[in-house]
Amino acid sequence: MDALSSFIGLSYIVAASLFIIGLKSMSSPATARRGNLIGAIGMFIAIVVTLLDRQIVSFSWIIIGIIIGSIIGALSARLVKMTAMPEMVGIFNGFGGGASALVAIAEFSRFTSGKAVLPLPMDTAITTIIGVIIGGITFSGSMLAFMKLKGMISGSPITFPLQKVVSALVFLGAVALGVIITGWKPDPLLFYIIVGLSLIYGILFVIPIGGADMPVVISLLNSFSGLAACAAGFVVKNNVLIIAGSLVGSAGLILTQIMCKAMNRSLTNVLFSAFGTGDMAAGSTSTTGDKTVKSVDAEEAAMIMGYAQSVIIVPGYGMAAAQAQHAVRELSELLQSRGVEVKFAIHPVAGRMPGHMNVLLAEANVPYTLLHDMDDINPEFPHTDVALVIGANDVVNPVARHDQGSPIYGMPILDVDKAHHVIIIKRSLNPGFAGIDNELFYDPKTMMYFGSAKDKVQELVAEIKKL
Ligand code: TAP
Repeated sequence: MDALSSFIGLSYIVAASLFIIGLKSMSSPATARRGNLIGAIGMFIAIVVTLLDRQIVSFSWIIIGIIIGSIIGALSARLVKMTAMPEMVGIFNGFGGGASALVAIAEFSRFTSGKAVLPLPMDTAITTIIGVIIGGITFSGSMLAFMKLKGMISGSPITFPLQKVVSALVFLGAVALGVIITGWKPDPLLFYIIVGLSLIYGILFVIPIGGADMPVVISLLNSFSGLAACAAGFVVKNNVLIIAGSLVGSAGLILTQIMCKAMNRSLTNVLFSAFGTGDMAAGSTSTTGDKTVKSVDAEEAAMIMGYAQSVIIVPGYGMAAAQAQHAVRELSELLQSRGVEVKFAIHPVAGRMPGHMNVLLAEANVPYTLLHDMDDINPEFPHTDVALVIGANDVVNPVARHDQGSPIYGMPILDVDKAHHVIIIKRSLNPGFAGIDNELFYDPKTMMYFGSAKDKVQELVAEIKKL
């Protein structure tokens, strides 16, 4: 082994170690920024060393690519709103999958162009086919997920008769052609049919999934984009790409699993049950029946909270929709200045994307030391004066604990109903994502404080200041 290849091998080990340390650091809000930077340094080393390693004929296209990519990346990081993060992650996954598929296509063309067919080296054939299938599925699936989340197409599940059979046939068709190419006939026409079938399968994979389940699917597609990159790493025989792809693949899969567990749903249920028809429009359902609901105004809510000793704030999707996080931070500071102990309870699937509440509250400079995970905070509700629920619904619905017929039965929830008083800010009695009534609204100790989250929190702040 010459000095250059030893240096390259060593640099790849350093880059891979930085990826792992970066990922580990991202598991806590305190170290997440540093983790991001460590990962980026690892990627920088990997790219520079790869450019040294390869016999690059001309750098001009590479430089143009880096400039365009950097401009798009920098602008997206600055301009994309926090609430639009899932779309951005979705489209970037798609580009990752598309890039891996293009690498596989280029490698296949390089091997077959101008040559009388047969034989393709077995390892090249297998990795190329895997790369193009996973990359193609990731590309078209992610683009469709992006369009659903952006509202460019309906967020509702789109289904048609025999959908699962058609999807299975398309997928198996691509695999069967892959086997033919690998074993017998590396025919470019068959290869391009595989590309087409993979793209079609990506669309069929995502259309039956409801818009609100899209974060789970995006996380899964993220995992696919890692696997596609890993396959591309085998195709071009680049170790650091194989390692980075595997890390993305496994991290995406772990996140998908965490989300499914927190919703108490299996991955097959998310993928095939056509659950979640997008977000409920205000005023669509109200199921009061003969049950009694108590409501309060800003003045009463201010009296209860301003004189409490302890308050746990439970944010949910409605806080994100109303962009109320800054007002919420002001409220928490005001209460703390009055000697009230304030904590935030964060449910793992509150909102519509992983870490949704953490990101919004961090953006509003709420100290992360005030944020508590579900398992840590649940034992504290029975000793808490007021639980203030801001735009959360499913994640505090007690039916999840006892109603076996409920779609959210078994989902772990925040035990808000165990606090001495519960104040809920939302605009109506409408259900949340799961589309079911919330028995917490009718609990005798619950007070509904109706209105849009930002306005209501601001009114609350104004009233508490008068106390
Ligand atoms: P949801 O159960 O979806 O409830 C959100 C509530 O916010 C709604 O009931 C709505 O009631 C209220 N709301 C909407 N706009 C509002 C506004 N401007 N001001 C005040 N309230 C507003 O939210 P959650 O408790 O956060 O639960 C999340 C749900 O999403 C769970 O079912 C979870 O499984 C699912 N999900 C989460 C994820 C991730 S990763 N977070 C991924 C997929 C699915 P009104 O219309 O009456 O105001």
